[in-house]
Amino acid sequence: MEKNMILAWILILSTAMAVARCQDYYSHGGLYVPPPRKVTYLHFFLHDTMSGNNPSAVPIVSPNTTTTGFGGVIAFDDPLTVGPDITSEVIGNAQGLWVSTDKDVLTLMACLDIGFTKGEFNGSSISVLSRNPITESARELAVVGGKGKFRMAKGYAQLKTYSVNFKTGDAIVEYNVTVIHY
Ligand SMILES: *[C@@H]1O[C@H](CO)[C@@H](O)[C@H](O)[C@H]1NC(C)=O
Ligand SMILES: *[C@@H]1O[C@H](CO)[C@@H](O)[C@H](O)[C@H]1NC(C)=O
Ligand SMILES: *[C@@H]1O[C@H](CO)[C@@H](O)[C@H](O)[C@H]1NC(C)=O
Repeated sequence: MEKNMILAWILILSTAMAVARCQDYYSHGGLYVPPPRKVTYLHFFLHDTMSGNNPSAVPIVSPNTTTTGFGGVIAFDDPLTVGPDITSEVIGNAQGLWVSTDKDVLTLMACLDIGFTKGEFNGSSISVLSRNPITESARELAVVGGKGKFRMAKGYAQLKTYSVNFKTGDAIVEYNVTVIHY
């Protein structure tokens, strides 16, 4: 019994000491007053290429279980261009993962960072996270955040498949993105 009491005191004391020590790692900044927000519209084409010697998208996991490739994971570093032609100006790249997350309908969960390398938004990027039912001609993804000029971003991306080769998996997708940011 007495032993338990001592143990309890040791616990209480060490917790109190931990609380006291932890106070060093943060400070309060008062009320957050958001600056006015602006909206930026982005338009580009994403080139997801799985074929050839220099693919921009590579399978990491390829399960052999269902027709939708459920469980499959693809890593990508896809160029973004101003026009549908790969030879048009490259304005950035999208890096992330496509994950096959639907057991019935071909869906690639999109988890990507879309970064820009030209103009005003050079060095800035937006973070996108959504399910992406790629067999539907028009789709929408959520913009959940951003970096640089797109800090604290929120928004959405509207997607349309411009062309796709179901044999190789190569696809060109048109993106219209509405970004609200500071
Ligand atoms: C993949 O699945 C097919 C069809 O069920 C089967 O014929 C083939 O042997 C499987 N391949 C591997 C590597 O398991
Ligand atoms: C983009 O930013 C990088 C790093 O700051 C710089 O090296 C590059 O020249 C810039 N490119 C353009 C087109 O502004
Ligand atoms: C993007 O917007 C342009 C101009 O309004 C339109 O022509 C195009 O169809 C849109 N594309 C997508 C994928 O929403």
